[in-house]
Amino acid sequence: MTSAKRFTLIVVVPVGLIILVIISKWLPDTVDINNNNNNNNNNNNNSNNNNHSVESDVKNDNSTNTNKERERTDRELDLNTFEIIERRRNLSKTILFWTPRLKDPYWSTPAGKVAFQGCRYSNCEFTADKDRLDEADMLLFYCSELPHFPDSRHSHQLYVHVTWEAPKKARSRRYGLYGEAINMTVGYRKDANIYLPYFIPEPREDPEENYTIRIPFDNRSRSVAWLVSNCNPVSRRDIYVKELSKYIDVDIYGKCGNNSCDDVHGEHAHGPCFRKFETFYKFYLALENNICKDYYTEKLMNSFEHEIVPIVFGGADYEHDFPKGSLINIVDFPNPKDLANYLKTMTEEEYNSHLQWKAKYRIGIRLLHCTLCEFLHDSAYTRGEQILPPSYGGYYSKWWDDSCHNDLIYELKEKGGW
Ligand SMILES: *[C@@H]1O[C@H](CO)[C@@H](O)[C@H](O)[C@H]1NC(C)=O
Ligand SMILES: *[C@@H]1O[C@H](CO)[C@@H](O)[C@H](O)[C@H]1NC(C)=O
Ligand SMILES: *[C@@H]1O[C@H](CO)[C@@H](O)[C@H](O)[C@H]1NC(C)=O
Ligand SMILES: *[C@@H]1O[C@H](CO)[C@@H](O)[C@H](O)[C@H]1NC(C)=O
Ligand SMILES: *[C@@H]1O[C@H](CO)[C@@H](O)[C@H](O)[C@H]1NC(C)=O
Ligand SMILES: *[C@@H]1O[C@H](CO)[C@@H](O)[C@H](O)[C@H]1NC(C)=O
Ligand SMILES: *[C@@H]1O[C@H](CO)[C@@H](O)[C@H](O)[C@H]1NC(C)=O
Ligand SMILES: *[C@@H]1O[C@H](CO)[C@@H](O)[C@H](O)[C@H]1NC(C)=O
Repeated sequence: MTSAKRFTLIVVVPVGLIILVIISKWLPDTVDINNNNNNNNNNNNNSNNNNHSVESDVKNDNSTNTNKERERTDRELDLNTFEIIERRRNLSKTILFWTPRLKDPYWSTPAGKVAFQGCRYSNCEFTADKDRLDEADMLLFYCSELPHFPDSRHSHQLYVHVTWEAPKKARSRRYGLYGEAINMTVGYRKDANIYLPYFIPEPREDPEENYTIRIPFDNRSRSVAWLVSNCNPVSRRDIYVKELSKYIDVDIYGKCGNNSCDDVHGEHAHGPCFRKFETFYKFYLALENNICKDYYTEKLMNSFEHEIVPIVFGGADYEHDFPKGSLINIVDFPNPKDLANYLKTMTEEEYNSHLQWKAKYRIGIRLLHCTLCEFLHDSAYTRGEQILPPSYGGYYSKWWDDSCHNDLIYELKEKGGW
């Protein structure tokens, strides 16, 4: 997925209401967690203080002192926890991109506050201006950049490692450098502090009994399509496709093949290509370039967003994480020939059954910026719980490196005798 797309898609997380309910249930009970009961006698008579503190604590442009002020006001004013939380929810938070992502200092987001419009918590600001280090609440480090950490660090500042990329061998030694400096991780790994995969299939609020097929089975005159630009990836998915194409027609689009969709190339080819694929093909090869724990990408999302059945190869837990019948996994077949036979002999009824999940699920995308702003305003962390990153204590590189199984293709080949 292009990062621009990632940031412009509409939030479809339906948990907002649930969270609101949880919050409203939780607040009255936890009023005294952080501030002891001796605040209670002030509860009714500290409204002037509150008024004052709410205004004085809002971040102004001279924010170097703001954090100190924030601590002071929290401590010195007799606020109960409810009020403190309320106030923190309203505080503006500054999120600083410390490393660029794909050479873009702003990670394809708009600078400032505008990115957060439409988020459940929108009182956040993005900056890539390192001169504003002192006022930053959170620093983002993108995985593929060397971490040149700032010279100084405020104790409240969170260093966040963000990744949607699979670990790359060539870079793996760098990650040792993150070590204990990182407070938390965000990304596609389920054990990240904030689990933020490319997408998650989510149950529809308005499920239907049956999915209504748009494109008749008979219109799909071709079998398998593949759009690919990395011809020789670590996972060697190309070996499998080469063998598969001996037994069934596979049309390769993009850099590694001779087909093109509407003369559109590169990243932007996805839209027109997938419209073509779903119109004329039965299957799409959603084969990952790295076979790593929890790792699946836009390849799968693009096919899920269209009316075509994906064939997958990757490190995700496909069976558990995706609706039943929604995909075909090559590891479930002894060899490419058997898979080809299965695909070729599939009846219309069988084929359509692979699309039925669409009646009950939709593709949910959690947006990085909304997720971070929410984290900074309302999360276990803002309620004072400690963050324990999987990287903690120097295990970071192990967490990262030991998660791939890129020999899988050779194991399948040997086991299947092809
Ligand atoms: C709050 O202040 C009012 C008047 O200033 C006083 O009558 C009342 O007892 C106070 N309440 C508490 C809980 O201290
Ligand atoms: C809080 O401040 C606002 C505006 O400054 C004022 O109108 C209001 O009466 C104040 N509330 C209390 C309880 O002091
Ligand atoms: C912020 O600082 C500048 C100069 O450093 C000063 O002129 C200005 O009055 C300050 N603003 C506030 C709101 O304190
Ligand atoms: C927080 O902000 C909202 C909207 O900006 C406002 O209605 C509310 O009164 C604020 N609450 C506090 C405690 O400042
Ligand atoms: C973040 O990590 C640093 C370095 O390990 C640590 O000093 C700081 O307390 C951590 N912050 C939080 C909020 O856990
Ligand atoms: C859904 O499909 C089943 C099986 O094809 C059929 O029996 C049922 O009537 C359909 N339901 C609706 C609401 O179309
Ligand atoms: C299916 O094929 C028919 C005949 O070529 C065509 O008229 C129709 O538009 C096609 N349907 C779709 C949804 O592409
Ligand atoms: C693409 O076309 C060229 C020339 O016709 C041919 O040599 C090559 O094998 C083709 N590649 C694929 C992947 O079909």
